[in-house]
Amino acid sequence: MAAATGICAVLLAILAAAPSARGLGRDEFPPGFLFGAATSAYQIEGAYLEDNKSLNNWDVFTHTRPGGIRDGRNGDVADDHYHRYMEDVEIMHNLGVNSYRFSISWSRILPRGRLGGVNSAGIAFYDRLIAALLQKGIEPFVTLNHFDVPHEMETRYGSWLGAGIREEFDYYADVCFRAFGDRVKYWTTFNEPNLFTKFAYLLGEYPPNHCSPPFGACNSGNSRREPYVAAHNILLSHAAAVNNYKKNYQAKQGGSIGIVVAMKWYEPLTNRTEDIRAARRALSFEVEWFLDPIFFGDYPREMREMLSANLPKFTPEEKKLMQNKVDFIGINQYTAIYARDCISLPCNIMTYEGNAMVLATGERDGVLIGKPTAFKGYYDVPQGMEQAVKYVNERYENTPVYVTENVLYDLVPFFRVLATER
Ligand SMILES: *[C@@H]1O[C@H](CO)[C@@H](O)[C@H](O)[C@H]1NC(C)=O
Ligand SMILES: *[C@@H]1O[C@H](CO)[C@@H](O)[C@H](O)[C@H]1NC(C)=O
Repeated sequence: MAAATGICAVLLAILAAAPSARGLGRDEFPPGFLFGAATSAYQIEGAYLEDNKSLNNWDVFTHTRPGGIRDGRNGDVADDHYHRYMEDVEIMHNLGVNSYRFSISWSRILPRGRLGGVNSAGIAFYDRLIAALLQKGIEPFVTLNHFDVPHEMETRYGSWLGAGIREEFDYYADVCFRAFGDRVKYWTTFNEPNLFTKFAYLLGEYPPNHCSPPFGACNSGNSRREPYVAAHNILLSHAAAVNNYKKNYQAKQGGSIGIVVAMKWYEPLTNRTEDIRAARRALSFEVEWFLDPIFFGDYPREMREMLSANLPKFTPEEKKLMQNKVDFIGINQYTAIYARDCISLPCNIMTYEGNAMVLATGERDGVLIGKPTAFKGYYDVPQGMEQAVKYVNERYENTPVYVTENVLYDLVPFFRVLATER
C-alpha cells in the first residue's frame, strides 16, 4: 500500500466529517471511538535531506531506480508536510477527526542508527507536530516503522535480513518512547510488515528490490526464503520494543502498544475442499504469519507445511521474548477476494499469494466480489471487513482491534482532485 496510504488517510477523514452522507451518525459509535486519518513519513514529509536527516531505503531506491515508483516519482518533496504540517493539522481539525496515525522517520531521529547521535532537529519536528495535534484535540497514533529504514541499515546488515537490525530497532524505539511517550498513548511498532516483506523480498517491488524466479528477475534475492527471514527479524525487533515499553515506560506513561497488519479477507472461490483450504492458507500466510508468533509463540501449521526449512524457527529464548502480548491489533482492511487453490490446479503464482500456492481473484462465474474500485484488485466488500475484524478478535484472545486503514472508495476520484490541487 505504499502508494495508497496517503489516500486512505484523507478519505477516512472525510468519512468522519460527513457520516450523514452515508446514512450513519457519529453518535451511533461508542464514546471515545477514534475517527482518524493515516499517513506515513516517506509518503508525505518531503524535506528528504533537511535538518540532518540521512538517506533512507526509499530515497536510495527512488533515486537509483527511476520508475521504481510510477512516473519516476520520489518523496523528496512529497506533500511537503515537514514544512506544512500546521496546515495539515488544521485541515484534519476542520474535517473533524479525533485521531491521527502517522509514522516517525527513523532516519530523521537516528541518521546513523545507534552508532551515531540522536538528531535533535528530528525530535523537535515530531514535538511540534504532536503539540499541534494535541492543541486541536487530535490523539497521536504513532507508527515506529512504516517501510523506511536508514540506508545505513541496508549497508550494515542487509536491513531486515540481518539479525543485527533487531538491536538497532530496539534502540530507535527506546529513543522514541523516551522522547514522545509522555504525550503519545497509542504506539504501533510496525505497519504492515506482512505486506512490506512480500513486496520487498518476494516480488522485489519495494527496496531493497530482492526477488528470484519465478517471482521476478532481480539482481539478488530468494523469494522462497528471504521474506520469512526478514519477517523473523521484524517479529523479534517488535518483541524487543514491546518488552522494553512494557517494562520501562508503560506504567509511568500510561500508553498502549500494538502492531498493524495488512489484511485481505479471503473467501473460497468454490466449495471444493481444495479452495476452502486455499482460503484458509491465504489467511494464514497473510495475518497468522505475524500474529500467531506474537500470541502463540510460533508460526501457523499451514506455513510450516508449505515452507518447511525456509521458515525460520524460534529458539526457546526468542519464544520467551515474545510472551509480552500486544495491547491491541491494527488491521489495514481494503478488500475481500476469492482464493483459488494452485496445488490441485495450475495457476500463475507470481503474485502476492504465490508462496501460499493460492491465486486471488475478484471474480466468480463472471460476477465480481464487490464494487470495483480505483485500485486494481481491490473491491468494496463491507462484509469482508466485518469478517476480518471478528476473525482477528476471536482468534487472538479478544484483543481490541482497530481498523487502522481503509478507503471510502466512492471518494477516491474526489481525493485525486485534492491531490492534484496541492
Ligand atoms: C546538523 O548537524 C550539525 C553537525 O552536528 C550541527 O552543527 C547542526 O546544528 C545540525 N543542524 C540542525 C538543524 O540541528
Ligand atoms: C457453497 O455451499 C453453500 C451451502 O451449500 C452454498 O450456500 C453456496 O452458495 C456454495 N458456494 C459456492 C461458491 O458454490
